[in-house]
Amino acid sequence: MTKQFSGAIVLAGGGKMGGALLAGWLESGIEAADIHVIEPDGGAAARLAGLGVNVAPTASRLPAGTEIVIFAVKPQIMNEVVPQYSSLAAGDTPFLSIAAGCRISLFESHLGAVPVVRAMPNTPASIGLGMTVACANRQTSEAQRALCQRLLEAVGEVAWVADEALMDAVTAVSGSGPAYVFLLIEKLAAAGVEAGLAPDLAMRLARATVRGAGELASRSDQAPDQLRVNVTSPGGTTAAALDVLMAEDGLGALMKRAVLAATERSKALA
Ligand SMILES: NC(=O)c1ccc[n+]([C@@H]2O[C@H](COP(=O)([O-])OP(=O)(O)OC[C@H]3O[C@@H](n4cnc5c(N)ncnc54)[C@H](OP(=O)(O)O)[C@@H]3O)[C@@H](O)[C@H]2O)c1
Repeated sequence: MTKQFSGAIVLAGGGKMGGALLAGWLESGIEAADIHVIEPDGGAAARLAGLGVNVAPTASRLPAGTEIVIFAVKPQIMNEVVPQYSSLAAGDTPFLSIAAGCRISLFESHLGAVPVVRAMPNTPASIGLGMTVACANRQTSEAQRALCQRLLEAVGEVAWVADEALMDAVTAVSGSGPAYVFLLIEKLAAAGVEAGLAPDLAMRLARATVRGAGELASRSDQAPDQLRVNVTSPGGTTAAALDVLMAEDGLGALMKRAVLAATERSKALA
């Protein structure tokens, strides 16, 4: 990413996800001097200052010419934090939130009819392999969407949905999804131990298998169901396992119930 910012990028919250975004921005060539982080935690602030970005404990003195504000604080304090940025609501500054479950209407209720983009990243963003889904309100221009796209894609892939109601399903699939894959690794390793492998070796096999299969599925031009068929000889070992996993009450039914439960929980929390 070349320098394309005419003003300051203000990041409210430099914790785990805010810090991951920041690392991605610096990596992609955004100038540290263009980034202003509001971070009250002294330890985190010192670490961030070490990266060369501007750090302040509060939003009391926001930089002139703020080009965008990114909210990366916990959802529970969002109602308290957003009004601190109302001085920027009179102009054309877009507001980008990565807070789980915070609806666009929350930001509009404090800031008025300003451009708001709600985004849902996931934890692989911390290694640049995130999947973020974003949704913009009507006030957001194409240029402002493009600005958000550039900032979000510094930590991985970005997709957009037009209907904000879909963010609950997005949360249930890609937001919470890494935890399902971690569980798959745990259970594959545990089953390997049951089958006689030493725990260290079972865990190594499970991690490397999920990593390799994920990478193959991501790079291949074949769909995952075809990749599965490719490694399944009729009557062979993979087929024996898939008979169990693909039974009526197998992984498909389980995953459907899990994703529906997460979708309903996301709706309830919002
Ligand atoms: N982590 C994830 O995997 C993930 C995934 C998707 C979305 N998100 C979203 O990302 C947001 C941040 O999550 P996180 O895991 O990065 O949390 P986090 O590590 O706790 O980071 C939040 C940071 O904001 C700071 N903060 C508190 N009050 C503030 C204020 N008034 N102004 C500016 N900063 C303030 C916190 O400082 P203190 O510690 O002093 O309170 C903390 O350093 C959440 O809304 C979450 O829903 C996270």
